[in-house]
Amino acid sequence: KYPSRVKIVDVAPRDGLQNEKAPVPAEVKIGLVHRLQDAGLKEIEVTSFVSPKWVPQMADAAEVMAGIERRPGARYSVLTPNMKGFEAALACRPDEIVVFGAASEAFSHRNINCSIAESIERFAPVVSAAREHGIHVRGAISVAVGCPYEGEVSPANVELVARLMKGIGVQHVGVADTIGVGTPLKVQRALEAALKHYDLDDVSGHFHDTYGQALGNTLAALQMGVWQYDTSCAGLGGCPYAKGATGNVATEDVVYMLHGMGIATGIDLDKLVDAGKYISDFLRRPPNSRAATALLNK
Ligand code: HMG
Ligand code: MG
Repeated sequence: KYPSRVKIVDVAPRDGLQNEKAPVPAEVKIGLVHRLQDAGLKEIEVTSFVSPKWVPQMADAAEVMAGIERRPGARYSVLTPNMKGFEAALACRPDEIVVFGAASEAFSHRNINCSIAESIERFAPVVSAAREHGIHVRGAISVAVGCPYEGEVSPANVELVARLMKGIGVQHVGVADTIGVGTPLKVQRALEAALKHYDLDDVSGHFHDTYGQALGNTLAALQMGVWQYDTSCAGLGGCPYAKGATGNVATEDVVYMLHGMGIATGIDLDKLVDAGKYISDFLRRPPNSRAATALLNK
């Protein structure tokens, strides 16, 4: 049985723009957030408080957070890998923070420069501080089906990271196919692993579309009752430490599919296409979304 309603977190301002070669000014990022809000998005992953040496594209995190006009009922999340990031984020009043770990040791080292066990030690004080401030904590489990350095990843690794995250008080986990190598049954196994430690209401899917599987993987997750997804307007996205990975599944494509299935999202697809066109025009390329392309050519 499919859920009757799905919650979408648009991650384009963060996952989408962290990987662009040309600098994107803060005002364009803010413009994108505002257009996503106009389209009815209630959850937006705005930016990351990470080292600017590692990800220079997110160096304007505080400026972007300060510049967005907050809408009632909307929630804004930011990535915080350590206490330094959390302290900087706190001043910007995020509704939710994201700690991001990995289901492979190699990816953990490449992305956040520490082992899985060390990452959990670093996250623990971040999670407690966030919860003391009443800020919701989400955990991302990267490379949950495949790793660019280690190849196939076992569901047991996902289960381990989910258990460790649960142990330090992370309230929700996102199962991430960082490099888009997953196929529906493998993605279901990874989600089942996370569901051993988290309730269905506290698990989401985050699928990159490198191999064109992300919509199929979303459908497979929906069949399990998973009702929360990270998606990216115009199909932007990628991770600087996952070479060759392309964008997240396009929000436009997911919304088109869900509405066609009679599943509510609260999102206005035409306005969402406008948001995708705005950022794609800035980046001087067409939106990486089949539904957006079809609607723009209609
Ligand atoms: P490190 O070099 O081990 O950190 O990096 P450190 O604690 O040794 O500090 C080194 C320097 O960085 C110091 O500066 C710190 O002050 C500074 P220096 O003294 O040399 O001038 N620093 C910071 N500056 C600003 N904000 C901070 C911060 N922390 C330290 N928060 C670190 C460790 C985690 C910081 C680094 O590896 C990093 O920033 N990694 C982020 C990588 C990243 O953002 N990846 C993309 C996001 S994750 C993703 O895309 C996956 C996801 O979409 C799900 C999926 O698809 O899989 C979520
Ligand atoms: Mg991602």
